[in-house]
Amino acid sequence: MNEIIQNILTRRSIRTYKENQISDADLNTVLDAAQFAPTAMGKQGWHFTAVQNKEKIEKLISAIKEAMLKSSIEQYRKMGENPNFNPFYNAPTIVITSYDKTLPTKESDCAAALQNMLLAAHSLNIGSCWIHILAITGEDPKVKSVLTELGVPEDYAVFGTAVLGYNSKEETKAAPRKEGTFNIVK
Ligand SMILES: Cc1cc2nc3c(=O)[nH]c(=O)nc-3n(C[C@H](O)[C@H](O)[C@H](O)COP(=O)(O)O)c2cc1C
Repeated sequence: MNEIIQNILTRRSIRTYKENQISDADLNTVLDAAQFAPTAMGKQGWHFTAVQNKEKIEKLISAIKEAMLKSSIEQYRKMGENPNFNPFYNAPTIVITSYDKTLPTKESDCAAALQNMLLAAHSLNIGSCWIHILAITGEDPKVKSVLTELGVPEDYAVFGTAVLGYNSKEETKAAPRKEGTFNIVK
């Protein structure tokens, strides 16, 4: 099996991270991988905000949790109340992926970029996880103001976040793949 396929098949979501930071060179490689994802008509209507400052990540988390407390969904309110809940799993690097709201294919473009980041990270032995919460809370005024401070373009909306760092636990095996999810017509 070639290395690319091996990398795709062995990537797992990592939810426990060591404190040590990834190198600037590795972060740049991951950001390059994001920017080389396909986009409809080559529009590249996206922005990647990498944050490696612990206090700034904590400030964002506080705003997210405050927004979650206002949710109509009980599960989110409970997470927001939980002092131990960290949506980014204490990863030392987060990459907030946002999009130009006017583009019809914005979510698809960003999904391709996010997956590229996870795969690039895995190829560098860096753990990663796709985190959805800012797609839900990103338009909350307080969250939005922290995002703007971090450099997310004001007229963009957050699609998702890739969190990155070194895994502090043994990796778990992938769940078995569902049967019957493809067919081949010849
Ligand atoms: C659109 C999307 C949103 C996700 N959001 C979260 C999230 O907010 N928190 C989390 O821990 N994992 C999140 N994940 C990761 C999935 O839970 C994970 O990919 C899935 O359980 C399969 O595990 P694997 O990535 O190890 O193969 C998300 C994945 C996708 C594709």
